[in-house]
Amino acid sequence: MLISKAMNDQMNEQIGHEFGESLQYVSIAAYFDDVGLPVLRDHFFKQADEERAHAMKFVRFILDAGGNVRIPAIPAPKPTFTSAEEAVTLALEWEQTVTKQINALMNRSGSEKDYLSHDFLEWFVREQLEEVSSMDMLLKMVQRTGESGLMLVESALASGRGLSLGAPGE
Ligand SMILES: [Fe+2]
Ligand SMILES: [Fe+2]
Repeated sequence: MLISKAMNDQMNEQIGHEFGESLQYVSIAAYFDDVGLPVLRDHFFKQADEERAHAMKFVRFILDAGGNVRIPAIPAPKPTFTSAEEAVTLALEWEQTVTKQINALMNRSGSEKDYLSHDFLEWFVREQLEEVSSMDMLLKMVQRTGESGLMLVESALASGRGLSLGAPGE
């Protein structure tokens, strides 16, 4: 095995976090469908797919490194929201938490002198800049327009203008 047992365990936990975030984004998409905001719905369905892809990157890396994939129990996502601001705030908190988790994995790769994992994790470090930045911008837009102006947020998203200046993830 090319990675330590501790790194393998921590990456298995991260698979759970990425799948958990994916489920939370499906739940947020369902909320936006309920309240008649289809562009925001589709935006969160897309984010949910991306989080699933992140989980699968960890699965494939562990397998390539000769480790063991052990997917933990995934907590149920928050099912309902009272406002778009509440839903997007939760999404931003998820992105900030995941950023800390990726940094903790990076710290382990450094302390273990595990250059293979370090190289793999660099993609996630860059991805989190884009994800936190774009979710933060979405929250600011939702706060600026208020609940009655969310159609403007929909129009802006539909125009295809990126929410972040960073390069989109792979
Ligand atoms: Fe992710
Ligand atoms: Fe993310």
